[in-house]
Amino acid sequence: MMTKEQLFTQLFENLTDSGLFFGHGVIDAQDEAMMVMMHVFKQTVDEILCSGQIKVDMQTIKKAEKIVSQRLNTLKPMAYIVGEVQFAGLTFKSDKRALVPRSPIAELIGNDFQPWLNLNTINKALDLCTGSGCIGIALAKYNPHIQVDISDLSKDALSLAKTNIELHDLNQQVNAVQSDLFAELTGPYDLIVSNPPYVSENEYSQLPQEYKKEPKLGLTTPQEGLQIPVKIMLDAPEYLNENGLLFLEVGYTDELLEDTFPAVDFEWIDFENGGHGVCVLSKHQLLTFSKDFKNFLMP
Ligand SMILES: C[S@@+](CC[C@H](N)C(=O)[O-])C[C@H]1O[C@@H](n2cnc3c(N)ncnc32)[C@H](O)[C@@H]1O
Repeated sequence: MMTKEQLFTQLFENLTDSGLFFGHGVIDAQDEAMMVMMHVFKQTVDEILCSGQIKVDMQTIKKAEKIVSQRLNTLKPMAYIVGEVQFAGLTFKSDKRALVPRSPIAELIGNDFQPWLNLNTINKALDLCTGSGCIGIALAKYNPHIQVDISDLSKDALSLAKTNIELHDLNQQVNAVQSDLFAELTGPYDLIVSNPPYVSENEYSQLPQEYKKEPKLGLTTPQEGLQIPVKIMLDAPEYLNENGLLFLEVGYTDELLEDTFPAVDFEWIDFENGGHGVCVLSKHQLLTFSKDFKNFLMP
């Protein structure tokens, strides 16, 4: 019989040098092996680390090994195989209906959006393109005074988001709306947060297999990955209160966005825990450049 520590080492070794890509809620093979341990033992990282010498029964070993071989054989993100993932210190259900939560916006939520916002003054917020609901739900969970709308075009994504709303017991505080961007939303919002699709077709074709297991609707958008981000920048002012802010993630499309709109003084946020390509824009700034955004979308 092996100990927990030995099982962890075995899982880690099986996941290492196996051609897998790590980036869907985990950073490397070690992180992913720990995700399997947390799932099979239903324990936190600390609980697992404190009980490394405990012997593991054969059934649990087999369960963990089966999960890892499924990962190696299918190249599905581990979150889809175990059905859950950690985001902003909370557990979220995860499956093929929506992207695996991994946005650096989790760190912003953890830092109360400092120094840009005083969350105590925020009453209503929107998580646009919510997918699994992770951003809006985490925001609501940590800030019980904020009413949060979460919206997505995909019915499938919204059904998963609704499961996550229930999981966190937030039915009274979080409202899920099916909407093509702002079409079905009324606002006004003090805060809009969005991690929309921002990958070009060309970039998509070169992504590791793990991304191909996620809904393509969540990743790609025309005009080299800029169409949806620019539509959001164009329409957001109409839905923002006077002092409202938009936090928009565009990942590696940040350089193209800068080059496309050289007059806009984008403020990019630095993250301590990894990730980049999130900017913060005020309503005033967005209104100032709305002609540029319009020309880009309808040249
Ligand atoms: C990058 S995923 C992000 C999901 C989630 N915010 C997260 O961080 O995990 C983008 C999401 O945008 C949604 N989406 C794509 N086009 C949309 C549109 N026109 N209107 C609303 N949502 C859209 C997709 O269904 C997908 O769930």
